[in-house]
Amino acid sequence: MITQYSYGTPVETFAVVEDVPAGHQLTHFTLESGPSLTFTCPLAATDLVYGLGETMRGVNKRGGRYISFNYDDPKHRDDMPSMYGAHNLLVVDGETPFGAFFDTPAKVVFDVDSKGNGLLNVSCESPDLRLYLVEGSSAYDVVKQFLGIIGRSFLPPLWAFGYGQSRWGYKTEKDISRVASKHRDAGIPLDYLCMDIDYMDRYIDFTVNRRRFPDLAGYTARMKEQGIHLVPIVDAGIKIEPGNAVYDEGIQNDYFCKNREEKNFQAEVWPGMTHFPDFLQEKVRHWFGDCYQFYTSQGLEGFWNDMNEPAIFSTEYRSKLAKPDVARGDPDQPDRHIADFKDFFHRLDDGRQMSNYEVHNLYGAMMTRASGEGLNRLLDRRYLLFSRSSYIGAHRYGGIWTGDNASTWHMLRQNVYHMPSLNMCGFLYSGADTGGFGGNTNRELLLRWLAVSVFTPLMRNHTAILTRHQECYRFRDPEDFRTIISLRYRLLPYLYSEFMKAALRQDMFIRPLAFDYPEDQRVRKIEDQLVVGGNVMIAPVLEKGAKGRTVYLPEPMTEVRYNGEFSCSDVEAGERMVDVPLNEVVFYIKRGTLVPAGKAVSCTAELNLEDVVLLGSGTVYEQYVDDGSTKECGLDRCVIRRKEG
Ligand code: GLC
Repeated sequence: MITQYSYGTPVETFAVVEDVPAGHQLTHFTLESGPSLTFTCPLAATDLVYGLGETMRGVNKRGGRYISFNYDDPKHRDDMPSMYGAHNLLVVDGETPFGAFFDTPAKVVFDVDSKGNGLLNVSCESPDLRLYLVEGSSAYDVVKQFLGIIGRSFLPPLWAFGYGQSRWGYKTEKDISRVASKHRDAGIPLDYLCMDIDYMDRYIDFTVNRRRFPDLAGYTARMKEQGIHLVPIVDAGIKIEPGNAVYDEGIQNDYFCKNREEKNFQAEVWPGMTHFPDFLQEKVRHWFGDCYQFYTSQGLEGFWNDMNEPAIFSTEYRSKLAKPDVARGDPDQPDRHIADFKDFFHRLDDGRQMSNYEVHNLYGAMMTRASGEGLNRLLDRRYLLFSRSSYIGAHRYGGIWTGDNASTWHMLRQNVYHMPSLNMCGFLYSGADTGGFGGNTNRELLLRWLAVSVFTPLMRNHTAILTRHQECYRFRDPEDFRTIISLRYRLLPYLYSEFMKAALRQDMFIRPLAFDYPEDQRVRKIEDQLVVGGNVMIAPVLEKGAKGRTVYLPEPMTEVRYNGEFSCSDVEAGERMVDVPLNEVVFYIKRGTLVPAGKAVSCTAELNLEDVVLLGSGTVYEQYVDDGSTKECGLDRCVIRRKEG
């Protein structure tokens, strides 16, 4: 059961798309109202608190303090309060499980018992908001009901579930072709290559550097023949450059955010001084979405949207070198950028003018919506789109990646923690920069990371300029990398089917173990084992130098070891030590269920979803199958596979 409570004049966020009845008396929380609203709820000693999507620390958020205020900061430490997305859902798992979604684009501070006094305290800076309260029989039930009101997840094409290679630093057609052929030569599967900002003419959106890519349309077509899609980056800011068609249109039609003097606000990002499109307006979204025709007309069908918190280097009011403006800023983030967000303004479709600071968390989400709706108009097939910044609701238009992580074991572990939390908030299509963005990766870390990414919908190796090259073929024994990545392709009949079923049913794709085994008290503490789809449990190795790990099985399962071939054995419930060499992956299939596995291929274009063997101890599997790109997706596309004998 879900009820909503409305305070003040809420800004339309588009997060909830179903009608939800109004509640009368607020339950669970006591409310203190003043200039801001503070909701407080006592927690029992054994309550777990889930949710909050893209935030640091573990899956259980208890003990931490988190701030929804989308922010571009690569220092992903455990105590970093804000990341790139705002996912304001909490799920309290205790005697009477319930969820609370604080639907406001302004800053929200979640103190989840950080002082150890048993209090959950949510402080919403704006007094204008909607609160949705969800009552359920379990934490999982609460989440499923919540997913039911925020609309169906974005459905990417099959190729978006392939392996992608990326690096900030590929500049030319030649660079990209070299990476493609090196993968093919080493037999490492590959479905897409990302084009970072250097493909553009001076980092200007909707342009191509013609010296580096003399014939992008022809090149895109040639790569597609090899089964490789190109995925360009698109940044939020539009360079101030009279004569550039997109810029001129934006000026003529008054599509940009305003400064304090009601002129177009100027902020420096990669291309130099830019204007920010006012994505909060419907007509601006429509225009920006149509701009993607520049790419789709050249055969491109996949994109990553970046710098849309928005990230700002300097502004017309603040030079790059300015000292942090603590006085005008925010005590939680004594950072100069907070003041920048107060310096520019949106004109909402309801007639209000509000500073970006007041509606901050919607900006990236509305860019995603603009792009997703545009691509949907422009293409007769499904598109790939993932964004850095997000708000709940954006999951209907695109996926997300978790931003500028680093090549550390801590970040790998964080990737594991993020996946179920993001799924609770609707972001099924998500993943991290595999191998790590900042810093230098190494062979062991990359192999272990790939073994996790095999199970995350977005599986992209991406790294920053000036870091060690981290394409798999650069390391000793590239066949080990081939083995791990080929597992992804062999499991695609399962992973794609489970993803599509979860999306179509508005369910989670990746869950904490506790969601599937609520009676088992022991799994409540386990955060490094996850359930992927209906039937698979993973227990990845996340420690440097480890030869394997301890795995807890809440029930007897089939243990599957993959080293190029599958070998299956039945294992008992309880704890077991498992050896996992660097070039192998071990995962588990729940008792009485099946996993369809296909042939090893070098890209999804070669994959036959129907040609499968069935692993596991079950008798029947319901497999979702389509051509990988149709927009007409429905559960009626499921076929029943039976295991004989
Ligand atoms: C941002 C993105 C990163 C990208 C870089 C250059 O830091 O998060 O993925 O490589 O910008 O465009």
